[in-house]
Amino acid sequence: MKNILTLLLVSAFLVNAQTIVSPKSKTTLTFSLTADSVPQYQLSFGKKPVVLPSLMGIELKNQTSFLSGFTIAKIESSLVDESWDPVLGEVKTIRNNYRELKVTLQQPTVNNRIMIITFRLYDEGVGFRYEFPKQDNLNYFTVVDERTQFALTGDHKAFWIPGDFDTNEYKYAETTLSGVDAAAYSGRGEIYTSGLIGNSLIQTPVQMKSADGLYINIFEAALVNYPAMCVDINQKNFMLTAKLAPDAVGNKAYLQAPEKTPWRTIIVSDKAADILASKMILNLNEPCAYADASWITPVKYVGIWWEMHVGKSSWNYADVNNVKIGVTDWDALTPNGRHGATTARTKYYIDFAAKHGFGGVLVEGWNVGWEDWFGNWKENVFDFVTPYPDFDVAELSRYAKEKGIRLIMHHETSASVTNYERRLDSAYRFMKAYGYDAVKSGYVGKIIPRGEVHDGQWMVNHYLRAVTKAADYKIMVNAHESVRLTGLQRTYPNWIASEAARGNEFNAWSSGNPPSHETILPFTRFMGGPMDYTPGIFQMNLSLYLPERATHMQSTLAKQLALYVTMYSPLQMAADLPENYEAKPDAFQFIKDVAVDWDDTKILEAEPGDYVTIARKAKGKNEWYLGTITDENTRTATASLSFLDPKQKYVATVYADAPDADYLKNPMVYVINKYIVNSKTVLKVKLAASGGAAVSITPASKENEKNLKLYK
Ligand code: NOJ
Ligand code: CA
Repeated sequence: MKNILTLLLVSAFLVNAQTIVSPKSKTTLTFSLTADSVPQYQLSFGKKPVVLPSLMGIELKNQTSFLSGFTIAKIESSLVDESWDPVLGEVKTIRNNYRELKVTLQQPTVNNRIMIITFRLYDEGVGFRYEFPKQDNLNYFTVVDERTQFALTGDHKAFWIPGDFDTNEYKYAETTLSGVDAAAYSGRGEIYTSGLIGNSLIQTPVQMKSADGLYINIFEAALVNYPAMCVDINQKNFMLTAKLAPDAVGNKAYLQAPEKTPWRTIIVSDKAADILASKMILNLNEPCAYADASWITPVKYVGIWWEMHVGKSSWNYADVNNVKIGVTDWDALTPNGRHGATTARTKYYIDFAAKHGFGGVLVEGWNVGWEDWFGNWKENVFDFVTPYPDFDVAELSRYAKEKGIRLIMHHETSASVTNYERRLDSAYRFMKAYGYDAVKSGYVGKIIPRGEVHDGQWMVNHYLRAVTKAADYKIMVNAHESVRLTGLQRTYPNWIASEAARGNEFNAWSSGNPPSHETILPFTRFMGGPMDYTPGIFQMNLSLYLPERATHMQSTLAKQLALYVTMYSPLQMAADLPENYEAKPDAFQFIKDVAVDWDDTKILEAEPGDYVTIARKAKGKNEWYLGTITDENTRTATASLSFLDPKQKYVATVYADAPDADYLKNPMVYVINKYIVNSKTVLKVKLAASGGAAVSITPASKENEKNLKLYK
């Protein structure tokens, strides 16, 4: 009641208020100028306020800011309803249906300087951005702060990670907004480059839930030529304010008109599943920038990777701590005997990939420089073109081709980005010469140019430069430790995935990822696009590799299978060692079968922090895959298969936790059962603590119908 009163009171003072409603009238947006001529907006979902009147504006350096003194010069409104097909995606066709409000603002005291605010109002929320058209009185300008506010209606529950402009690799906390205590994360020491930026500062996307049952997600779309956005919480009145990543001298962005900011996004629904089904972030991005995208293909891959993370082998060839690119003679060094990326081991992975139908093999630690790559803030750290003496790149390229496997390149930059940019063309040319068409890049460490941060404007531009240059070579990019995706994979689909969150690897060498982690990620990191989470670990006892490490996976085996469906990515790794898959061929079958590109997606059940159940239809096939996961609580997942073709009978192969499975006591036990199912079937599957289930659903043969029972 109090909130509604506030709304009414404030509305009485609005100047030139403009109200629009979304295509199906689910959301309402009002724009106005305050009595002081400051732009402000408010948003509601049905009758419920979502964002109370909130100010907007940009503060400039050494120039009058775009903050106040505005008059409305022009107002345009339009309704858009169009459809487009993503190159790779969760659904075949995406509908983009919104009402646009374009407000041209003028500052009479600054020679009638113009700023446009464009709102796109969807039934599931709003995106808005600032635009600076070309004009006589605005050329170059430096942003020192963005003052966009999000005035929330109460002390919502939030799923958050602390504000940090260098990393997103944190565990999520689940508290009220007033309970956010980002400083509690300091001193944990699990992430090499981290920098907390304030106690009440959190990252976007942030997922919230209000006491009156609204799910609210705040994020951004189309982050180009601008720093990434965190938000600062006023813990008394629940006002969030944008906080941008600074550059080395403390400025936020250097812009030149015409220019526009990324979209600020608020997605809202009374159903959690609607948040996951939203395509608003993608819709706010520009169409594909490439005339020909046929070379961009989804890929399931294995790699020389987990064995390093669990301590079985090493990236480096020799155990020395001072090497120089172009000076050190690696042939003269004594190998440590643990090097993972050898010619023989790579052939073993290629054979394994070919035998089991994988598309790619990633090899990390193939190139010289790993001996002192970490922690020295060293500029000339890798050259990306010189293999170690025991890695025969020409022979492996030949062998992979013969076996029909694509090798996936690895470019760890050690965050020495000046070095990487200088070498990028030669690195990509080297890849093409040896038949590589995808690269996993990595940005571990403190950025060079020194003083820059991972999420600042300079780095945001770098990631895109690397991706667009890669496109010139028809190369796909999977960037680790990069800024999070903001739907840019619509425009640049060769940006096939990113990490930019706490991946499965943390289970190998840190305090791990708690059971709720994978139920929160879809509502946060995945809102912006695919993540290379690297699921599929079968051997949960990690002290097997290094007894002194007391780490273990915080998941059952069946949950690892389910992640291939609950976490959307057109690039998916089967992360465990071939030996561990060969020991469990029946469970491995699901990873071999599951698709990575989809015609349709149904979010069947979802609650952030608790559970997620998703079914997806494989691209161009009459096959469905279903994944369901839970947090530390056991539960029964319920999945109505009403999405199936009603004229067809199917075989459902259910990979579930065994009755005695438990992520702490007994994580590796599972049961596999096959049933006949149809569109009337409602599956009920018991999930263990931090458990899950994966189901493949394929058309039934006459033989299946004879031998298998109908699911009841
Ligand atoms: C961190 C990445 O996330 C991981 O996948 C990679 O193996 C290491 N950096 C080494 O580059
Ligand atoms: Ca990482």
